[in-house]
Amino acid sequence: MTLRTDTPTWITNAWYVAAWDAEVDSTPLARTICGMPIMLYRKLDRSVVAMRDACPHRLLPLSMGIREGDSIRCKYHGLKLGPDGVAEEMPLKADKVNRSICAETFAVHERHRFVWIWVGDKALADPALIPDLWPCSDPAWAFDGGYYKVEADYRLMIDNLMDLTHETHVHSGSIGQPELMEAPIETVASGDAVEVRRWMPGVNPPPFWRGALRADGPVDRWQVCRFLPPSAVMIDVGVAPVGAGATIERHDQGVRGMVIDVMTPESETSHHYFWGMARNFDIDDAGFTARFRAQQGGVFAEDMVILEAQQRAITANPDLRLQAYRIDEGGTRARALIARAIRSAQLPGDA
Ligand code: FES
Ligand SMILES: [Fe+2]
Repeated sequence: MTLRTDTPTWITNAWYVAAWDAEVDSTPLARTICGMPIMLYRKLDRSVVAMRDACPHRLLPLSMGIREGDSIRCKYHGLKLGPDGVAEEMPLKADKVNRSICAETFAVHERHRFVWIWVGDKALADPALIPDLWPCSDPAWAFDGGYYKVEADYRLMIDNLMDLTHETHVHSGSIGQPELMEAPIETVASGDAVEVRRWMPGVNPPPFWRGALRADGPVDRWQVCRFLPPSAVMIDVGVAPVGAGATIERHDQGVRGMVIDVMTPESETSHHYFWGMARNFDIDDAGFTARFRAQQGGVFAEDMVILEAQQRAITANPDLRLQAYRIDEGGTRARALIARAIRSAQLPGDA
């Protein structure tokens, strides 16, 4: 990676979601990822190409170009590049092809319904390092979601998702409930993950969960927010009938949802937000999936308004610092994990 010289706020050698798999097709998709302008397209065999979105000649975005077979022809003077980024035809067809002309390409991998990209050192791009978002591809679960471009530092979204007390105020018209403020929280850090756990035994379920469980009576309810580096948060939510044996560690007795949030930095002050929910109940009900997706999109739009206003205030008040209270412990620990990984990548010989 050659674009930045200062220290970024993100881990460079890591997999990030570039797009939902269905977003990438034969027409190039332009998306700036970790400060790097990139275009993505599918070859004829459906595999994905990720290439620097700048023509090696005069830097016109290649995403404006014309696809020819698996190659791309620049829209300006017609330089043609193969899917490996290497020149195949010069602007003047009579000119001998100079194969040292090339656009940078990036490692990509499809998993869990997403296209993942590695913008750092290609030699380190091991697919085994892709965050384990297993509910997105487990056949016993149904999963769908959406995408927002958010004009805010991606870490503000991590803070938001690791502290659900904001639901009471930000989502007062939708999912907010005063009980969420009353239940104690516990923050647990282990290895490369951070969890914020909230266990609510013997409570009355809200209508959504009562309907999912198809049973009346009190329930044990949980919310476990789990941060997975470099920038994903999975929130395990659900209810089980009291006495069914559910615990904060193991709770397959009732109905479960996994809120999936993946934040991919675009710049220091903007990110791509891929959101959704996987569930292990009514998984064949496509109508439920569509309705829930629309509802969830509305809830996350409420967060987006807050975060973008927060980012504007941060930019406008450079002399002020973010403060962390007890509710912020999950986000603070997640940020510490990110900062540690960035620092260790800067050690001599470890970049
Ligand atoms: S800018 Fe692409 S061929 Fe000239
Ligand atoms: Fe929220």
